[in-house]
Amino acid sequence: MGMAAVSAMLGIGLAFAHARSGGAWAVGRPAPQPIPFSHAVHAGGLGLDCRFCHAQVEHAAAAGMPTAETCLGCHARVWSVTAQLAPLTTALAQGTPVVWSSAHRLPDHVRFHHGAHLHAGIGCQTCHGAVEAMPQTVRAQTLSMGWCLDCHRQAATHEAAGRAETPPLPDGARIGLAAQTTMHEGISIPALTRCSTCHR
Ligand code: HEC
Ligand code: HEC
Ligand code: HEC
Ligand code: HEC
Ligand code: HEC
Repeated sequence: MGMAAVSAMLGIGLAFAHARSGGAWAVGRPAPQPIPFSHAVHAGGLGLDCRFCHAQVEHAAAAGMPTAETCLGCHARVWSVTAQLAPLTTALAQGTPVVWSSAHRLPDHVRFHHGAHLHAGIGCQTCHGAVEAMPQTVRAQTLSMGWCLDCHRQAATHEAAGRAETPPLPDGARIGLAAQTTMHEGISIPALTRCSTCHR
């Protein structure tokens, strides 16, 4: 990306950051859902592992959402026919996914990858808070650019919490971005803070 484009983007970014200051990040506000699903009941009370429902979270960009079959595996027996669970049987009959709303969706120009963060030893709660205690799922952090960058700057200087406990990568195929820098006009820029790492 050329310098003109970068400074134009920064200009917009600053205006944007200003407009958004003051609690406008939807932290703590639940999204309306087709079924009153509760993490407190399922992940907290029943103790189900996050990966039971968000199966791709360790390997893919997106965490993945449970299918109607996953829910009905229990709810065909527990609580079989109720109005609250009707969207599950509809989804199963029509072969369509249940349409959950998101309290976390980032703008389209931002790239995020769950697997990369979990391999770096960062737990769900660092970014999502105590989900297992939430009766309604809410955003615990702003997910603003500044929030992402705070951690990326730390990680780039190898001071990120938990770095010491980083598990080895499964096949050595991924080269840790945290350790990489590039030279640009005599200045060393950590890969994790480059615009193109997060923006497409
Ligand atoms: C029984 C299945 C199930 C389990 C177990 C489960 N989840 Fe979920 N999760 C869901 C469903 C269904 C939704 C969509 C409804 C909602 O947002 O509450 C969801 C939504 C989410 C969201 C919000 C997604 C968005 O787009 O806003 C996060 C974050 C999340 N789960 C994290 C977790 C974490 C962390 C754990 C483990 C502590 C966990 N989940 C365990 C089923 C599950
Ligand atoms: C480094 C921060 C971070 C960590 C760690 C993290 N998440 Fe997320 N999560 C996010 C962000 C940011 C989004 C929004 C992604 C987007 O819109 O592209 C998200 C979105 C989600 C969603 C919505 C579906 C999706 O992938 O878009 C679910 C479900 C979810 N996370 C579950 C989890 C679970 C379960 C864990 C732990 C196993 C976890 N997350 C760990 C930051 C994180
Ligand atoms: C491991 C079994 C199991 C799975 C999988 C499961 N549930 Fe449940 N669910 C339960 C149990 C047990 C209860 C609490 C008992 C009751 O109230 O009947 C419950 C309660 C509920 C309730 C009532 C919530 C409340 O606040 O009391 C809803 C709604 C629900 N589940 C939806 C879902 C959805 C949607 C999914 C899939 C994303 C799902 N469940 C997956 C076992 C399960
Ligand atoms: C708590 C710390 C932390 C937070 C918060 C965080 N990251 Fe990261 N992120 C990391 C670390 C550490 C890595 C490097 C992993 C590695 O070295 O491979 C990384 C890597 C990445 C990568 C490169 C993934 C790849 O394919 O290798 C992208 C893209 C990224 N983060 C985007 C984001 C975005 C966007 C946000 C905010 C919504 C965010 N991150 C929030 C710590 C964090
Ligand atoms: C660590 C990840 C990360 C890096 C690196 C990063 N950004 Fe961002 N940026 C984000 C996230 C996340 C958002 C979206 C915040 C929101 O609105 O939800 C964002 C939003 C923006 C916006 C606002 C766009 C809008 O929605 O109107 C601009 C402009 C921007 N970034 C420019 C830059 C520039 C220029 C750089 C390099 C100097 C950069 N970003 C580096 C994560 C990053």
